[in-house]
Amino acid sequence: MDSNMRDEYGYDEALSSMYEEYTNLTGRDAEAGEAAAFLERFCIGGHALELGIGNGRVAEPLRERGVRVQGIDNSESMLKLLAQRTDQIEAWKGDIANFSVEQVYDLVFCIYGTFTLLSKRENQIACLRSAAAALNKEGVLAIEIRVPVLDGFVNRQRITASLIDDENTFVDTATHDPLNQTVTSTSLWFSRKSTRRWPQRIRYVYHQELDTMAECVGLELAERWENWTRDAFTDTSERHISVYRRTSS
Ligand SMILES: C[S@@+](CC[C@H](N)C(=O)[O-])C[C@H]1O[C@@H](n2cnc3c(N)ncnc32)[C@H](O)[C@@H]1O
Repeated sequence: MDSNMRDEYGYDEALSSMYEEYTNLTGRDAEAGEAAAFLERFCIGGHALELGIGNGRVAEPLRERGVRVQGIDNSESMLKLLAQRTDQIEAWKGDIANFSVEQVYDLVFCIYGTFTLLSKRENQIACLRSAAAALNKEGVLAIEIRVPVLDGFVNRQRITASLIDDENTFVDTATHDPLNQTVTSTSLWFSRKSTRRWPQRIRYVYHQELDTMAECVGLELAERWENWTRDAFTDTSERHISVYRRTSS
């Protein structure tokens, strides 16, 4: 993207502060320790790189376990939140769709659906290619994404309500483009204090497509789980954590 162009789905200041509140509200902050414990066991040499590191929700607990964590993010606001949380993680502004690094890592990870924020197929493949090149010989790539849910679209449009409690109501409006496998949504977050807007576009991928894309860049599936506590991935799973290693020749 032209550096002068505003990314309408980028994490600007408003979205970054909403993100912190949202992950707290939805229990995502609470599971960060479990995620760090899951990821730590791949960091035998002690070096990890997070793609879309954000505010360090998982990177910081992983660092606290003794792993040297670095990160890439394209949002200055999110990088600012990370810097406020810790000065022990080196992170830089960059595009995870196309990056190169000077060293190789035991673990490269891209979690909480960040991979699907790359809304073009070629960018997703380029991200996997860059990630594969950043792994050492025994290194692994871990990706956490949602299982696509395409129920409820009528004429390619859907409105759903999610997360309703005494304080908050989320109304999600979405349009589906089946040719490009994208879902473009606007979530409206009504609370007693405010009404806020969260725009997003994702390119959904099923797990088998992810495996195929990974195979195209020299990676193979090592393990796949439903969640950070390693429950089995089944036909009722809502997300998965897939771990890839270099293809054995
Ligand atoms: C859903 S948040 C996840 C943040 C963090 N990984 C976590 O688990 O809490 C997605 C993050 O990816 C970043 N991001 C989205 N697209 C990106 C891109 N193309 N390059 C770099 N960072 C990107 C956003 O700025 C945001 O910080």
